[in-house]
Amino acid sequence: MSRTPVIFGNWKMNMLQKDAEAFLQEVDPYLTGSENAVFGICAPYTDLGVCVQHARHLQIGAENCSQYDHGAYTAEISIPMLTEIGVKYCIIGHSERRTYYSETSAACAEKAKALFAAGIVPILCVGETEAQYDAGQTQTVLKQELQESLQGLTAEQVAQMIIAYEPIWAIGTGKSADPGIAQSCCQLVRQTVQELFTPAAAEAVRIQYGGSVKPANIKEYMACADIDGALIGGASLKADSFKAIIDAVR
Ligand code: PGA
Repeated sequence: MSRTPVIFGNWKMNMLQKDAEAFLQEVDPYLTGSENAVFGICAPYTDLGVCVQHARHLQIGAENCSQYDHGAYTAEISIPMLTEIGVKYCIIGHSERRTYYSETSAACAEKAKALFAAGIVPILCVGETEAQYDAGQTQTVLKQELQESLQGLTAEQVAQMIIAYEPIWAIGTGKSADPGIAQSCCQLVRQTVQELFTPAAAEAVRIQYGGSVKPANIKEYMACADIDGALIGGASLKADSFKAIIDAVR
């Protein structure tokens, strides 16, 4: 079974609306005829309207959401609010959310269920810290994050989602993971999905590598059997580098 490659930029807390608009105007038309892969951008909430408005080919996602539908949750953004704008994907459990904002795997599971109910595809991030990597705990950390974050989902739902393996020591550091390490961790993610759900879900789920991916190294990751795409921070901020990534993948 062949899985469609899926590449997403993650702008994090960068890009004003005018930057988002300029990026979309340059990158979106560039994707004409790139139907063999899915390319998208996860943008700050305030950019989402502009992004959806200018996107014909790019898929647009949010970087987070609330697990609650509505109510007294000051400053949170609900899934119905994202649906109203036309958002189709949403990152959950990014390590920056887990580290700085105490986002738990249990909350990720709630968010994933609510996103599926609204027809939005979750991009679930998992990954170990440098200390955990050095201590040989990568397998244990990944299995636990997956077990807790996918809790309550059906095999059919997991088959449709995206899981991003992002070693925390490789994010924003320029220290990208060796493709061999990235492959073995993505393989472990797939194997864990098989153990928790079904072989069919494991076969279908798309797994991204994330952590200092750039035009110069994306091909090495895409050549790995269990890597179906990438989640890209820094190199997604400039139209030129994102276009170079598109060229490398399509
Ligand atoms: P990076 O970020 O590409 O800048 O390392 C990746 C991410 O955090 O998703």
